[in-house]
Amino acid sequence: MSQLRVRKAVIPAAGLGTRFLPATKAIPKEMIPIVDVPMIQHIVEEAVRSGIHDVILVTARHKEAIENHFDFNFELEESLDQKQKKDLAEISRSIGRLCNLISIRQKAPMGLGHAVLCAAPVVGQEPFAVLLGDDLIDSEVPCTRQLMEIYESQGASVVGVMEVPQDQVSKYGIVGGRTLRPGLIEVDQLVEKPSPELAPSRYAIPGRYVLSHRIFECLQNTKPGKGGEIQLTDGLQLLARVERLLAYEFEGTRYDTGDRLGLIDATLAYALKRPELAPGVQELLRKHLRGS
Ligand code: G1P
Repeated sequence: MSQLRVRKAVIPAAGLGTRFLPATKAIPKEMIPIVDVPMIQHIVEEAVRSGIHDVILVTARHKEAIENHFDFNFELEESLDQKQKKDLAEISRSIGRLCNLISIRQKAPMGLGHAVLCAAPVVGQEPFAVLLGDDLIDSEVPCTRQLMEIYESQGASVVGVMEVPQDQVSKYGIVGGRTLRPGLIEVDQLVEKPSPELAPSRYAIPGRYVLSHRIFECLQNTKPGKGGEIQLTDGLQLLARVERLLAYEFEGTRYDTGDRLGLIDATLAYALKRPELAPGVQELLRKHLRGS
């Protein structure tokens, strides 16, 4: 593998977000907040904390709010300055400075694999990270950083995995392979959302990948799979035939923010971590539980 440094992240954000209607009728689902920070900002911050500055957003029509969020808002910031609200102005400006956001359109909803392929002209011949916006991972060392370290030390593409109960395997891409050491698997099989009896293991991919650019030629050769869409998992199965592919059991707590209960779970967890909010949230929880 020629270049080992991972400098770019791809964040697919082209979906319609129908699971969150009516909230997503006029705003992108990525802008739904966890407390007061949009989900997409948490994801971009994970990439940035991992040492990545170029963030490639694969987007679609009606997603302009995401681009605006990562830009400066001159009117707002000036008006906050004039009102001596420097802290708020700085919060807004710091998001504008966070990363170099590069947007590219996925012009038709042809699946996650196709969305990643749309980023090929921007990624070029470099390794890159993929972060899915519906998975929030809370960890001391960012999950993407953990995968980058495996990529850089092993010289092989790597997917983040977590063990899930048997009855949950049909919600994820599942890997199978040979355990090299605890937490590290050499992957020889990947199946998108298998039924429990066909799953090669209970190791699921919750939306974190660090991949060599050779995934692009694999995705070009990937036929539509589950749901008639071009699946990233199927592209990875082809990659595992031409290159070594690893799965790494990352450390961290994962929240499924693509699901309403998962979103509430993440909201509570993140609110309880905020010293200014925790006592109030605990009190509210007690009040609601007393009422139940
Ligand atoms: C996608 C991927 C799947 C992965 C999952 C993680 O599915 O296709 O392989 O395990 O994200 O959240 P989705 O949940 O978008 O249907």
